[in-house]
Amino acid sequence: MDAGLERVVAAETVLSDVDGEAGRLVIRGYEIESLAGAMAFEEVVHLLWDGFFEGLPAARDMRAALGRARAQVFARLPSIAAGPGAVEALRIGLAHIADNDDLETALCLAAAGPVITAAIVRASQNLPPIAPDPNSSQAMDFLRMLNGVAPAAAEAAALDAYLVTVADHGLNASTFAARVAASTQAGLTSAVVAGLSALKGPLHGGAPGPVLDMFDAIGAPENAESWIANALARGERLMGFGHRVYRVRDPRADALKAAIEKLPKTAGRLAFAEAIERTALKRLAARQPARRLDTNVEFYTALLLEALRIPRPAFTCVFACGRIAGWIAHAREQQATGRIVRPRSIYCGPAPRAAA
Ligand code: CMC
Repeated sequence: MDAGLERVVAAETVLSDVDGEAGRLVIRGYEIESLAGAMAFEEVVHLLWDGFFEGLPAARDMRAALGRARAQVFARLPSIAAGPGAVEALRIGLAHIADNDDLETALCLAAAGPVITAAIVRASQNLPPIAPDPNSSQAMDFLRMLNGVAPAAAEAAALDAYLVTVADHGLNASTFAARVAASTQAGLTSAVVAGLSALKGPLHGGAPGPVLDMFDAIGAPENAESWIANALARGERLMGFGHRVYRVRDPRADALKAAIEKLPKTAGRLAFAEAIERTALKRLAARQPARRLDTNVEFYTALLLEALRIPRPAFTCVFACGRIAGWIAHAREQQATGRIVRPRSIYCGPAPRAAA
């Protein structure tokens, strides 16, 4: 029995490799640090989907294909009401896409992330949705659909680097959920909705909002020591630290930190975050000397999305906007195996008896 499945290898994949000992993430042969900033998100979608769809456009044509898909999704956008949480609203919106396995479905799902997330944020501010610009990049259009004005080039570049950085990450919980759904030969929409449902929790993609809540609660660097000591004494987990696979620093943390440093006016907030990070790492090392707990992707995700003025409740949706690309590639890879994922359980309930 292995409740967290940490010793189970459940898939062969050509998509990404997470080396937890070395702190290394490779996406189809590229180190993550070299991808972010060098390849646009649209090119990374191509990289992940290559070989999984007939008729996949060339890498240079993916931007236009996703632009057209954004317009298509917007034309059919279900009414987005402020009400349920942002992830729930995104799930409802994605579920409207026909549950097929083809390239059109894949493009619509990848395009729907930013279109629906922007509409959700605007609905929460009692503002109408803004139509996409099919000629724009996914990152630039996302920020424009959110705020109604074209973003600065540095902001679009930072969001693009973020989407690239989180596009795929081995057999994490949400990707596994997507692969389980796909293993039944359900369609790509089912796989993506399954992935999003697993992403939502604070132990996975729901952590960055609580990272900022922690910053608020700490308030000033001089409070970090006592706040963190008290939180750990209460048995709480520090959001943005620890990882199931990494035994060293998550390489995505530094890729995102580099993207934040290129944004104007982030130096003060970065210095504050670094002070909290130093204290947290010191306290975690003292508490768990045998188990190295280091900074994970969510710590700097929180700072980056905050710097882009994305509201906290939408952070997990923005994570999904990047990861949908990976879920789709993994779903196709899983479907091709033709094998349903069906582990076993050990029964430890009462001995069988006849129902009266
Ligand atoms: N703060 C305090 N203690 C921690 C933390 C943390 N962030 N993470 C792990 N621990 C403790 C844990 O309680 C356990 O202690 P004990 O043995 O006394 O019960 C010990 O460290 C070992 O934990 P583990 O078994 O290695 O942790 P895990 O593999 O079950 O959990 C995790 C991995 C990411 C769920 C966990 O580190 C955590 O809850 N972190 C905080 C939430 C977070 O930042 N999530 C984002 C993850 S990165 C995004 C992604 O790729 O999913």
